[in-house]
Amino acid sequence: MDLIKLVSIDKYFDKQVLSNFSLNIKKKEIVGILGPSGSGKSTLLRIIAGLEVPDKGEIFIGDNCVYSKNKFVPPEKRNVGLVFQDLALWPHMSVKKHLNFVLEIRGISKDKREKEIRKILNLVNLSEYIKSYPSQLSGGEKQRLAIARVLAQNPKILLLDEPFSNLDPVLKKELKKYLVDMQKNLRMALVYVTHNPAEISDIANKIVIIREGKIIQTGGPTEIYKNPKNSFVRKFLEI
Ligand SMILES: Nc1ncnc2c1ncn2[C@@H]1O[C@H](COP(=O)(O)OP(=O)(O)OP(=O)(O)O)[C@@H](O)[C@H]1O
Ligand SMILES: [Mg+2]
Repeated sequence: MDLIKLVSIDKYFDKQVLSNFSLNIKKKEIVGILGPSGSGKSTLLRIIAGLEVPDKGEIFIGDNCVYSKNKFVPPEKRNVGLVFQDLALWPHMSVKKHLNFVLEIRGISKDKREKEIRKILNLVNLSEYIKSYPSQLSGGEKQRLAIARVLAQNPKILLLDEPFSNLDPVLKKELKKYLVDMQKNLRMALVYVTHNPAEISDIANKIVIIREGKIIQTGGPTEIYKNPKNSFVRKFLEI
């Protein structure tokens, strides 16, 4: 069964940003969305999360239609977690508060919140920073906090917008391993946006290459590297 189904999405800002964009994502899949700067990657994630409204098309999450001509399900009812490109952490809140805030909105009782906070911080290896504020964290720790905050939503779908863009290669590798393990344990679909093919090819089940808001090629990483559809894909993958 498809967990996310996008059907012929169009989105316009000053110009058309997504055109006739259709994509199916299965439960437990890791999908890499690849495309140059300005190709519509962040817009696509924001549309799935419900933070932008398309101009045309339909979106299904599981069996539910969350967007169509006469329907719009708001972000908080979609069960989708988005880690923003700029992280958007709350400077005045400690690590603990970031998670507590989200759990409280979900209506989780105080006792359960304490337990859940410990569990999530353990998962992203931030337990020792429970009292720290974002300004006291390194780049990698901030990224992990942004991921932890989204996990507190208990999403069925995790959307990551260039999650590792500012990290050194060692940390990148470490965090990637976290993500893959976490995704296995939590059985979420994971959609990972980047303009760097090397970052995603080793973990993705499916790669979607986009250019100017249109899908150019979809397939498994091996398939795409073996049979790039055109010179754009070849050039983009640097092969
Ligand atoms: N709120 C907005 N208002 C007007 N134009 C926008 C808005 N958001 C995005 N755009 C435009 O839509 C296009 C796609 O933007 P988007 O942020 O989706 O690209 P991207 O693929 O994520 O790029 P990058 O790799 O640089 O993050 C760009 O031309 C951008 O300027
Ligand atoms: Mg972007």
